[in-house]
Amino acid sequence: MGQQAKIGVKMALTYEQTLVIIKPDAITRGLIGEIISTFEKKGLKISAMKMKIIERQILEKHYAEHKGKPFFNSLVSFMSSGPVVLAIVEGLDAVNVVRKLVGSTNGRDADPGTIRGKYSMSQQNNVIHASSDSIVAKKEIELFFEKEEIFSYDGLNSVIYSRDELSNISSKNKV
Ligand code: CMP
Repeated sequence: MGQQAKIGVKMALTYEQTLVIIKPDAITRGLIGEIISTFEKKGLKISAMKMKIIERQILEKHYAEHKGKPFFNSLVSFMSSGPVVLAIVEGLDAVNVVRKLVGSTNGRDADPGTIRGKYSMSQQNNVIHASSDSIVAKKEIELFFEKEEIFSYDGLNSVIYSRDELSNISSKNKV
């Protein structure tokens, strides 16, 4: 346990944005609403969203860490096989919160309450991608979204968070 946790000092909370991609299998199966609704009902804010077919070249960049793995070509083909929905989801500790809601990679192993646990039986066709950490999230958002496509709007956070928690949200991330 870290020293700060031991003596009960509050750790700073970070207001974060993370990228999710609702994959072609989920689009075909009509799961866009269910998935977006999971994030909305949790209290996360959707600050950008669009549907598109992602070019192979962009996918190869997005999934560069998997280049050379046996599933790489199949993954790129699957992800470019039809439209996807890309969204930016934001909130306090959003990268971690979204990863937990999404569940582990293999749908068959994912906890039953998670998005993959509820809707996937596959390791590849696992309905959704979510950024793995905050540094990756920044890169992925830059790869897929222009600044003008990202919106800030008032109202939500002031009912979702306590006054204490809100003090961690800078004025650039409006409540
Ligand atoms: P995602 O979160 O988009 O990140 C990488 C993707 O690669 C992952 O979800 C799966 O779709 C896919 N993937 C990871 N491991 C495997 C595997 N062993 N076999 C097939 N696909 C995989």
